[in-house]
Amino acid sequence: MEADDGIDLRVELAGISLKNPFLVCSGTFGNGREMSELVDLNALGGLMTKAVTLEPCPGNPPPRLWETPSGMLNSIGLENKGLERFLAEDLPWLSRFDVPVWVNVAGFSAREYVEWAEAVSRSGLAAAVELNISCPNVEKGGAFFSRRPREAAELVARVREVVDIPLFVKLPPLPGAMRETALAVAEAGADGLSLINTLPAMAVDVERCRPRLGNVTGGLSGPAIHPVAVHAVWEASGAVDLPVIGMGGIWSCSDAVEMLMAGAAAVAVGTLNLVDPRAVPRLAEELAGFMRWKGYRRVPDMVGLLRRRGWG
Ligand SMILES: Cc1cc2nc3c(=O)[nH]c(=O)nc-3n(C[C@H](O)[C@H](O)[C@H](O)COP(=O)(O)O)c2cc1C
Repeated sequence: MEADDGIDLRVELAGISLKNPFLVCSGTFGNGREMSELVDLNALGGLMTKAVTLEPCPGNPPPRLWETPSGMLNSIGLENKGLERFLAEDLPWLSRFDVPVWVNVAGFSAREYVEWAEAVSRSGLAAAVELNISCPNVEKGGAFFSRRPREAAELVARVREVVDIPLFVKLPPLPGAMRETALAVAEAGADGLSLINTLPAMAVDVERCRPRLGNVTGGLSGPAIHPVAVHAVWEASGAVDLPVIGMGGIWSCSDAVEMLMAGAAAVAVGTLNLVDPRAVPRLAEELAGFMRWKGYRRVPDMVGLLRRRGWG
C-alpha cells in the first residue's frame, strides 16, 4: 500500500502483487491456521505453505529441533497430511484471506512432484508453486535434484508443462554451483527462485554420546546462515533475470534490506516466526521507516542496488 508520505511497499513477483515484500517461509508458519490467532494473515506480503507430499508423511523421529547459539537445527522430515486433505481443507481455508499463497511442493520422485504440482495449479487457489528440491531432511527426492543441475532442469521442465501458475524453485546454497544451477532451472522454465533452504548440519550430546536429533542430521536455519543466504542471492541474481525471494536468518529490517540490495526482489521470514509470530507486520513497518529515512520511495529502488552501484 502507498502511504501518505509516498512510501510504497508493494512489489510484483512474476505477475503476483504483494502488499509488502515480506513473505513467511515454508514450514515456519504451519498452513496459517494456528498463526491466524496471533497475527492478521492479511498483513503478510505472501505465505509459503509447509511442504506437502502426495501421500501423508509421518516425518522424522523426535527430537526434531535443537537450538544452537545463533540458529536452530530441525529435522521435521516433511511431516504432513498429504495432498488430498491439504487441497480439501487447508488451501480453501487460506484462499479466504487477501494474501497470495505459494504452495511448497515436495516429493520422493519426479513423478510425485509433477502430479502434485499439477493438482495445485488446477485447484485455482494458489498464486504460485514453490518447488522444494532442497530439503536436507529426506533421503530421496529433495536435495538429490538440487545437487545435479541437469536433473534439476529436467524436473523443472516436466513440472513447467503441467503448471499454469508461476513456478518458483527453492534451492539450497550451492557453493561453486549456484550460478550454474540458477541458469539451468531458469532455462527450464522457472519464473522465480526461492533462496535458501536450510543447510545440512548436526549436533552431538557428548555426555550421552548421541545425536541431538532423532534423525541424526538436520537443517540449520536462523541468523547463523544469513550471510550464506545473502551470498546465494547475490550469485543467483547475477546469473539470471528472474525474481529471487531471499530467505535465511532474516532477524531485522536491515537483514531484509541486505537481501534486497544483493538482488532479492522480495524476502521471506522463517525461524523468526517461531520466536515472534508478528515479525512480518513489524518488519514491514520498520522497512517503511528505513525507506523514509534513506529516501527510497519504492522497494524496487533498493533491489539489486549493489550491482547498480558498480559492485560485482
Ligand atoms: C522448522 C522448519 C521447518 C521447515 N520446513 C520446510 C518445508 O517444509 N519446506 C521448505 O521448503 N523449507 C522448509 N524450511 C526451510 C525454511 O523455509 C527456510 O528456507 C529456512 O529455514 C531459512 O530461513 P530462516 O533462516 O529464516 O528460517 C523449514 C525450516 C524450519 C526452521
